[in-house]
Amino acid sequence: MGPIVLLLVVVVAVAAAPAVAELPRLEHSPKADGSLSILAVGDWGRRGEFNQSRVATQMGVVAEKMDADFVISTGDNFYSDGLTGVNDMAFEDSFTGIYTAKSLQKPWYTVLGNHDYRGDALAQTSPVLAKVDRRWICIKSFILNAEIADFFFVDTTPFVLKYWTNPGNSTYDWRGVAPRDTYITNLLKDVEALLRQSRAPWKIVVGHHPIRTAGKHGDTEELVQLLLPMLKANGVDLYVNGHDHCLEQISSSDSPLQYLTSGGGSKAWGGVYAPGADKVEFFHDGQGFMSLRLTATDARLAFYDVAGAVRHTWGHTKAAHY
Ligand SMILES: *[C@@H]1O[C@H](CO)[C@@H](O)[C@H](O)[C@H]1NC(C)=O
Ligand SMILES: *[C@@H]1O[C@H](CO)[C@@H](O)[C@H](O)[C@H]1NC(C)=O
Repeated sequence: MGPIVLLLVVVVAVAAAPAVAELPRLEHSPKADGSLSILAVGDWGRRGEFNQSRVATQMGVVAEKMDADFVISTGDNFYSDGLTGVNDMAFEDSFTGIYTAKSLQKPWYTVLGNHDYRGDALAQTSPVLAKVDRRWICIKSFILNAEIADFFFVDTTPFVLKYWTNPGNSTYDWRGVAPRDTYITNLLKDVEALLRQSRAPWKIVVGHHPIRTAGKHGDTEELVQLLLPMLKANGVDLYVNGHDHCLEQISSSDSPLQYLTSGGGSKAWGGVYAPGADKVEFFHDGQGFMSLRLTATDARLAFYDVAGAVRHTWGHTKAAHY
């Protein structure tokens, strides 16, 4: 092929490429014994208020005990309207200055919540923030390969139609997202392709919005329709979310999937308990966080309240699939 023909092929390929490029792929090695210890927290950034600091202290204690490898943030990182830009002091006031324990000086793999989209959403995903605090790894959607587990971080806010059609007084930063249909179609295509390719013993999907919840916000119907079938078809083990300011585990009635809400990073006590068709294994209307310990064959979850007390545990063992 001559250079001109080659150039044409490249141009055509670029023109036909989807708006969302293939998702970024990150790697995190497990411990020497092949295990992973993780904390998950969501809905937190309030400059320490509403018990954010107390939850942070207990996260430090638990992370120390289990030698946490990393932390997952399920979004709504900065209230009420995300960050105003990369120089917004809320980043330090609500993150760097709050999660100060040595045991929490690990990578924080972070997605955006709807409140983050109400500010400068691109600021949170900017590499400038990693210069301020090198723990901060925030990408709208990405895959994290950790050998015994693949984590799929999915940007769920754009799925929710009401943010587009009925934003009320809020403005959403849809730069790089609009138009919605193209964005979510391409995102779903990428997530499905990666789920299909995944050979990890554990497949874990993380998003801000719940698929199933007994809390105040209710199920996210757009995710039930568009994302959930893909998770069930590809044997996803856990879906981890925030958005409802509580802690919960709900088990799917027709698949091994567990729905886990860890949205108790600060303001909580929603006062709503509205279980749906799937079984609520645990519900705590209050602050707290979740831990997850994984080996190639075992998963152990624990939920902790604001005082660090274990409120619920769950475990699952799989036959080694070698
Ligand atoms: C903080 O936690 C304590 C329990 O340790 C609770 O009594 C209090 O109401 C909580 N404060 C807020 C603002 O949620
Ligand atoms: C929008 O803002 C106006 C004026 O500040 C206020 O009166 C109104 O309650 C707000 N609406 C919503 C849905 O928050």
